[in-house]
Amino acid sequence: MEDLIGKILNTAKSEISSAASLKSLNDVRVGFLGRNGEFTAVMKNLRGVPPEERPLAGKRVNDAKDIIERLISERERALADEELRQKIAAETLDVTLPGKRTEYGSLHPVTLIINEISDIFTGLGFDVADGPEIETDKYNFEMLNIPKDHPARDMQDTFYITDDIILRTQTSSMQIRTMLAQKPPIRVINPGKVYRADFDSSHSPMFHQIEGLVVDRNITLCDLLGLLGEFAKKLISKDAQVRFRPSYFPFTEPSVEADVTCSECGGRGCQLCKHTGWMEILGAGIVNPKVLENCGIDSGEYSALAFGMGIERIALARFGISDMRVIFENDKRFLRNYR
Ligand code: DAH
Repeated sequence: MEDLIGKILNTAKSEISSAASLKSLNDVRVGFLGRNGEFTAVMKNLRGVPPEERPLAGKRVNDAKDIIERLISERERALADEELRQKIAAETLDVTLPGKRTEYGSLHPVTLIINEISDIFTGLGFDVADGPEIETDKYNFEMLNIPKDHPARDMQDTFYITDDIILRTQTSSMQIRTMLAQKPPIRVINPGKVYRADFDSSHSPMFHQIEGLVVDRNITLCDLLGLLGEFAKKLISKDAQVRFRPSYFPFTEPSVEADVTCSECGGRGCQLCKHTGWMEILGAGIVNPKVLENCGIDSGEYSALAFGMGIERIALARFGISDMRVIFENDKRFLRNYR
C-alpha cells in the first residue's frame, strides 16, 4: 500500500510539473483525483488492508491527495502567470518603431506659376475665368480675325476634331467668349491648357497660357505698357522692366511682343536669356476693332488691350529647368523639388 501511494505520488509530481497548459493540468487532475482516477482505485484497495492498519493507510491516501491538490494549484498559478505574461508580450506596442509615412502631394510647378500670376492680376482688380479646351474654329480663329488661309490653321499645327471643332491652340478664344458674355468694363485673365502638334525640348503638344483682356473707354498702348510693367515688377523684382517690340497678330492692332527683364541675371545677360538681358514671355496689343465688333462691342465707344503669355517659359526660367519635357513627365523625384 505504502509503495503504491509513493509510486502514484511520484508520477503525479512529474506529470504536474510537465503539464504545459491549464488544459493538460486539468487532465492530470482528473487522472488522479477524478471519479475514475487513480485514488478511487486505491480507496477500493483499502478494503484488503487489515482493519487495524486501515486508519493509517486512509490517512496516507488523504495526505497524498492533499499533496497532489496543492501541487496542482501551485502549478495552476504558475501556468496562469505564464499565459498572462505571454499575452502581454504578444500585445506589446513598440512605440520606438518608425511610423508609416503618408506621402503628401504638392502643387505642380506650372500650377504654382499660374497661382502666382493669378494673384498678381487679382491684386490689380482682374477676375480669373476658365473656359473649354475643346473649342470651335469660330472662337479660336475666325472671330479673332484669323483668316482661313492663316498658317496657324494648318493641320500641322492644330489638332482638329472635326472641320469646325478643334483643341484650342491659344487661350485667346476666351477673349471672344468673355466679350460675348459680358458688357464692358471688362478686366479678366484666363489661365488654361492649349494644344499644338509640336514636340521637342522647347515645345510640348499641351502647354499653358494665360490670356488677359481689358475692355473699357480710352484703353491705349500706354495702359498696356503700364499694366505689364507693374506685372513684371511683381513677378520678377521691383527693378524689372518691360520692353515692346513691334509684332503682328491678326486680332491686335498694333501688336507687340513684350520682353521682361531676365529673372536669372536681372538684365546683365546670362545663358538663360542668351546674353540679351530679356525674356520673351508675351504677345500683346490693342484689340483689333474688328474683333470688338465681331462680339457686338462698339469700337467707337470702347477699346481693349489683350495679352497672352506662355506659362512653361516662365516656369523654366523660374526653376532653372532647361528641358520642357521634364515638366510633364510627372516624375515625383523631379516634382518634389518645386514645392
Ligand atoms: N495667342 C497668341 C499666341 O498664342 C498670344 C497673344 C498675342 C495673345 C497677342 C494676345 C495678344 O492676347 O494680344 O501666340
